[in-house]
Amino acid sequence: MIEIAGMSVKELADTYQTPLMVYDENKLRQKMSDFMHYFQSDTFETGVLYASKAFSCKEILRLANEYGMCLDVVSGGELYTAGQVNFPMERVYFHGNNKSLAEMKMAIEYGVGTIIVDNLQEAQVFNELAKNSDHVIHILLRINPGIDAHTHKYIVTGHVDSKFGVSMLQEEEIVRVIKTFDENEHTVFEGFHAHIGSQIFDKNAFAAEIKKMFGFVKKMEEDHGIVLNTVNLGGGFAATYTDADAPIPLPEVCATILDTAKAQQDERQTHVKKLLIEPGRSIVAEAGSTIYTAGFTKQTPNKNYVFVDGGMADNIRPALYQAAYDADVANKDDQPKTVTYTIAGKCCESGDLLIEGIKLPPCQAGDLIIVYTTGAYGYSMASHYNKLPLPAVVFVKDGKARVVIERESYEHMIALEK
Ligand code: LLP
Repeated sequence: MIEIAGMSVKELADTYQTPLMVYDENKLRQKMSDFMHYFQSDTFETGVLYASKAFSCKEILRLANEYGMCLDVVSGGELYTAGQVNFPMERVYFHGNNKSLAEMKMAIEYGVGTIIVDNLQEAQVFNELAKNSDHVIHILLRINPGIDAHTHKYIVTGHVDSKFGVSMLQEEEIVRVIKTFDENEHTVFEGFHAHIGSQIFDKNAFAAEIKKMFGFVKKMEEDHGIVLNTVNLGGGFAATYTDADAPIPLPEVCATILDTAKAQQDERQTHVKKLLIEPGRSIVAEAGSTIYTAGFTKQTPNKNYVFVDGGMADNIRPALYQAAYDADVANKDDQPKTVTYTIAGKCCESGDLLIEGIKLPPCQAGDLIIVYTTGAYGYSMASHYNKLPLPAVVFVKDGKARVVIERESYEHMIALEK
């Protein structure tokens, strides 16, 4: 029987039912501690923001706080969750391309330390609102450096029309955003943010981003007399989903980032003092697994299906991105993998296939199927499609589990319905 953090999958399934999201707490802790350890520099003040969109709940935010991380939130809901665990608001960064008035007011009220503005209109609205703030709010602008690293290869041209941020090609617009805050004693414009993609395997993409950003910071200084002190490089560090993935080891990617930034600093003599990164996926993905119970199996002319008691409602990624995952039959880990299966969910949609063409031991109803690396953008992108209740989430550490999110009941699901 396969175990997670010293607890058997069967015991987890018996105790908490399935589908169940299980996090190995020590793996989460190790990732947080590694990021904090390796992203340190003598040249810059550094900060690691946990991108809570990857998985936001009270307990993960408590952990992030315990490790001294900062926090990236993109909505009133993510901010509210941070508030509920007294996350230090000076370490919170509020992102988003279309923050509502209510969200901006909430950020000011909560005492959020930094707002990342996305565009000129937002800057103008936020500048007015911030005049009522009783604390000084740091401002970054999301710029778009024209680097697209959503794939295994990064592309330096293109992607200038992203919905996020202001393109570096629109320099006048960027200057206007910065100047918006000139007269406001409740705001300080600190620098730029960029995020070039997710699941990035190529460390040169980060190096290219840094060069572009430092070059642009210098240009602001020379051409416009605007002195900036912060560069936020965004997230995008890859996780290992299957054997096909080989992310750059964290010490190496951190060293590349810090060395490139230092070289840029030496070469260009900017006033950048603070360097930030925003990992989400790489912190939580590998620590998480989903346990399903197998139901019926079915042979079609060309396929062997094994059906599970969840699917695209708890993990939309295969359907949405053709994301690949690995899995095992937890109670048959001693048996040879002789059958090629398609693991399909129970949703009324042909695309609700979690994994296609995976070798497993012959499956039958009641088997426990564990899908690995579901810790990022699984629960956080879950839906109620077909009115499936959201699964429970447990953290396991040293052979002991604790519930961090209860399983939803049917009553919960319709609680707001009239
Ligand atoms: N910072 C910003 C501004 C972002 O937009 C994102 C992710 C992150 C940080 C964290 O990126 P990460 O380290 O997790 O790659 N739903 C997709 C991923 C969308 C990522 C969106 N932005 C998926 O399931 O693959």
